[in-house]
Amino acid sequence: MYCAVSSFGLAGIEPYVVSVEVDARRALPGFDIVGLPDAAVKESRERVPPASQNLGYKATVVKVVANLAPADQKKAGSVYDLPLLVGYLCACGYESFDLSGIAMVGEIGLSGEVRGISGVLPMVLDAARLGFSKVIVPAENAAEASVAKGVEVLCTSHAGEVIAYLRGEGSLPQAKAPSTPECREAYLPDLSEVKGQVEAKRALEVAAAGGHNLLLIGPPGTGKSMLAKRLPSILPPLSEEEAVEATKIYSVAGMLPAGVSLLRDRPFRSPHHTVSAASLTGGGSLPRPGEISLAHNGVLFLDELPQFSRSVLEVLRQPLEDGEVTISRVRQRLTYPSRAMLVAAMNPCPCGYFGHPTQSCTCTPRAVEQYLGRVSGPLLDRIDLHMEVLPVEYQKLSSNRPEESSASVRQRVVAARKLQAKRFAGSGIACNAQIPPALLARSCPLEPAAEKLLAAAFERMGLSARGYGRILKVARTAADLEGAETIGPAHISQAIQFRGLDRKYWGGV
Ligand SMILES: Nc1ncnc2c1ncn2[C@@H]1O[C@H](COP(=O)(O)OP(=O)(O)O)[C@@H](O)[C@H]1O
Ligand SMILES: [Mg+2]
Repeated sequence: MYCAVSSFGLAGIEPYVVSVEVDARRALPGFDIVGLPDAAVKESRERVPPASQNLGYKATVVKVVANLAPADQKKAGSVYDLPLLVGYLCACGYESFDLSGIAMVGEIGLSGEVRGISGVLPMVLDAARLGFSKVIVPAENAAEASVAKGVEVLCTSHAGEVIAYLRGEGSLPQAKAPSTPECREAYLPDLSEVKGQVEAKRALEVAAAGGHNLLLIGPPGTGKSMLAKRLPSILPPLSEEEAVEATKIYSVAGMLPAGVSLLRDRPFRSPHHTVSAASLTGGGSLPRPGEISLAHNGVLFLDELPQFSRSVLEVLRQPLEDGEVTISRVRQRLTYPSRAMLVAAMNPCPCGYFGHPTQSCTCTPRAVEQYLGRVSGPLLDRIDLHMEVLPVEYQKLSSNRPEESSASVRQRVVAARKLQAKRFAGSGIACNAQIPPALLARSCPLEPAAEKLLAAAFERMGLSARGYGRILKVARTAADLEGAETIGPAHISQAIQFRGLDRKYWGGV
């Protein structure tokens, strides 16, 4: 006999329907799974027959073949245990279910208990899009699955319940969103905790407003890490669409905290400098989203930038530029979104005090040069804002004067982002940092005085075309923060200041 059960697979974060076709016939007994299953899928053969016996069904002496269609896509994980079990029971003639409009996913244990899997959110969203009427998911994944609208999401913790439900003898609970709203914002670190550092905070604000990448450079203990960690608190809140996108990635990576339906805070990822290229950009033998994708719609913070291996930093360039990571494998090509803001922090030299106003640096010039040289030009080129963070004076550190809160800075950032949304409506560009060269002139109209200043700077600093574009984009953001239509000289000079470090440390722009 033959039976087909609908289920889902994932290519990266993109779901596709998998039809689990099971056939049982009199032949030499056995259980085969075909349709490019990976080792984990194949292990279903060892789980499904014992589980069916532990659910009270007799052992079979038939040849069972399961085909996972489409046969040209690689299937991974333990997602198909539940549909395989249901298909197995029907194909062996123990049950006869009407499975039209129903899809199911889930791992099962030998006694029939249903366990959680990763990637449920994109799967149920796809079930809704494709017009399935019901989708059965593990109870452990109920919170994320509850996000889907337009499809009845039923959850289960035991295969026995699913069988009773399909027989029409029992019901399955609907997946519900957790009752407590998950808003952690109140506990996020706040910018007001950072004393002084007016210019660095300004750089943080400009970066947030225009979506620019940011490099903080300065001696140890000056608050670079502190500042970077506070960037998410001044970024605009996640829109519903952005939250779903980010949550999908965490769902696929199996990193969604228990009971969380949607991520509400912008992701902030700070991988250690020993991170490998594969875990930074994604991949591995079982492909998984990397840190840059986990930071999608949020912030990727690379602390102690020169400590990262150069080859690891190089693989970051393409995803930073394109906003997505593509992983190519035999018969498989995956993409993960990776539109994150990069914030990097570093000391200027091995001892940390090169360029310090009072302490002297003990490094040889060659050591400093080597240290700085670990950060390649092309990577620096992709970082629009460079900011020097020097020690705060004692009076400022010890003063009780209240500092501006993140909420207040965020208001200006949100206003500036609104202007950008209007300017770039329908063009696929989200913020000033993404303006392509062809649109620079149109998006960045200059006042005559600003034009003159830029021309002079171009000559004096020996700017490259890239450097020129970068200054225009940052000046555009500075103008947006003031609600100005055209770019004035003050905006240009601010933007130039944000690049002054190249000359101090790297000797060029
Ligand atoms: N501007 C500041 N205001 C308040 N505390 C600060 C400031 N700068 C540094 N600190 C204190 O110093 C500690 C070290 O700062 P950190 O951000 O780790 O420095 P860095 O990353 O530059 O080496 C912080 O945890 C904080 O307690
Ligand atoms: Mg630090």
